Amino acid sequence: MPDTQPTVGLLGTWGYHGLLDDAEQVSVDTPYGPTSDNIVLGSSGGRRLAYLTRTGRHRNIPPHRINARANIWALHSLGVRTILAPTPSGSLRPAIGVGSVVVPDQLVDRTGRTDDTFHDDDVHISFADPFCVRGRQAVVSTLRRSGWVVNDGGVMVAIRGPRFSTRAESRWYAAQGWDLISMTPYPEAALARELGMSYTCIALVTDHDVISDTPWPVTQDLVREGLDANTKRLREALLQVAIELADTPVTTATAHGRRS
Ligand code: ADE
Repeated sequence: MPDTQPTVGLLGTWGYHGLLDDAEQVSVDTPYGPTSDNIVLGSSGGRRLAYLTRTGRHRNIPPHRINARANIWALHSLGVRTILAPTPSGSLRPAIGVGSVVVPDQLVDRTGRTDDTFHDDDVHISFADPFCVRGRQAVVSTLRRSGWVVNDGGVMVAIRGPRFSTRAESRWYAAQGWDLISMTPYPEAALARELGMSYTCIALVTDHDVISDTPWPVTQDLVREGLDANTKRLREALLQVAIELADTPVTTATAHGRRS
């Protein structure tokens, strides 16, 4: 087993069991309490990677109970600097179909969560572009090469959950010009930025929320079906992206879209 630290971590609603060589589980103590599960370290394509299932190994941690601070802190402590973060999402646009992927470039926080910082001191991070530019490019190109329908860019609204939205809320989100809805990218993205990590959200569209012309209002079963239908294939493609990013580390400049 290579003893190098993983620089790329996959933080998702599902795991990568059986897909990594030399997999070992590590339990990380954090100042913020327990992580959602042990972190799995292993290799793929000769690169050392890490993954963590944010909903726990039995998928039984609801979004509003995910200890995002512990999860992000623990990945960082193991050497991870680039996070690929797939999440199930509702589409707020009829044109963005179930089973497609969106790699959002903007985020609106409607979670109301207060555990969204590591700082109690006078630190204010820049968050104009919440997702990693280089990570987004890598995901878009690799997924398209693997045959996925991918929307490059979009505005993700993050809600706290655990309940889904009302029709009025959904209509209002869509009217703002927002494209997708999910319960997990916030506060993960802000916490990763505070630690100088690259964070890329990959939205797997599982439903059309409750936008007025969907005949199928979102339910937990619909989201699970959407996940089960697509995660096997998506996991393999995301491992490819992780391997690529492990070879070309993301710098702060490429993560934030600044010229170096
Ligand atoms: N995750 C998947 N679908 C969702 C939706 N419609 N609203 C919030 N989170 C979701």
